[in-house]
Amino acid sequence: MDFGIAGRVVVVTGAGRGIGRTIAEVFARAGAHVAALDVVAEGVEEFAAVSGTRGQSGLGLVADVTDAGSVRAALARVAERFGGIDVVINNAGINVEGRVIDLEEEAWQRCFDVNVAGVFRVCQAAIPYVSQSAYGRIINAASFAAVVPSIGSAAYAASKAAVVQLTRVLAGELGPHGVTVNAYAPGMIPTAMNGFAEMPQPAQDRLLDTLTLRRWGSAEEVADLLLFLASDASRYITGTLLDVSGGKLATQVPAKAYEE
Ligand SMILES: NC(=O)c1ccc[n+]([C@@H]2O[C@H](COP(=O)([O-])OP(=O)(O)OC[C@H]3O[C@@H](n4cnc5c(N)ncnc54)[C@H](O)[C@@H]3O)[C@@H](O)[C@H]2O)c1
Repeated sequence: MDFGIAGRVVVVTGAGRGIGRTIAEVFARAGAHVAALDVVAEGVEEFAAVSGTRGQSGLGLVADVTDAGSVRAALARVAERFGGIDVVINNAGINVEGRVIDLEEEAWQRCFDVNVAGVFRVCQAAIPYVSQSAYGRIINAASFAAVVPSIGSAAYAASKAAVVQLTRVLAGELGPHGVTVNAYAPGMIPTAMNGFAEMPQPAQDRLLDTLTLRRWGSAEEVADLLLFLASDASRYITGTLLDVSGGKLATQVPAKAYEE
């Protein structure tokens, strides 16, 4: 699929590993100028090095979304290098687990600092750039947990629900500038964050039974949705939450279809 992404300048946060790294690679393969940002240097440096060997223009920068100065400096470097910024993908996020009765307030704050205030800081710093672009896009990682949370996910689920509302408000505020702002909700993509694929089989089966397509999603399947959201094909879509979850809980008991 060619979504006409070639030549667009795309920033991906949290791109050192996991879904973010795949997003960066998929956009680079599509011909975008990709800036991969992460608080950890190793993955984004590797991304830049591999990109160079493929003749791509990928840039790897250390940037911490909990630090406004770090975010601003990174976006300024991207704009200086590529002449502007068209698309910002707020993928960086952390998982914080714990039942409310046990959850430390510090853990709650950390979750909101990265997952919500992190998106806010990057959006605020990015607005002057994407507003100048003819193709301005902001795309935020929410989660299926923003729609149906699980036990022990109060901090994470509340933070992702907050991302959805932030997305809607920002879509409204940037409409006059022609910038679209959307969120997406991955369902279950095995990564180091969740360890789904390493769980004992009965635990995997219990989770898979909640999925209409009854298989884990891949980071590529998330990235494909983002190619669409970053492209002209999505130009009339803004302020939405798009589900990329294999139909998680589309019906009450999706596993029933597999028993018959
Ligand atoms: N994996 C899933 O099933 C799933 C489901 C729903 C939503 N998501 C969301 O997708 C995004 C990526 O998830 P993942 O599974 O790839 O996670 P991951 O833990 O594998 O990767 C997250 C990346 O974000 C980076 N990061 C963390 N804190 C940062 C900070 N302060 N500044 C900059 N970068 C930072 C990490 O270093 C890491 O490289 C997250 O926002 C997550 O909440 C994932």
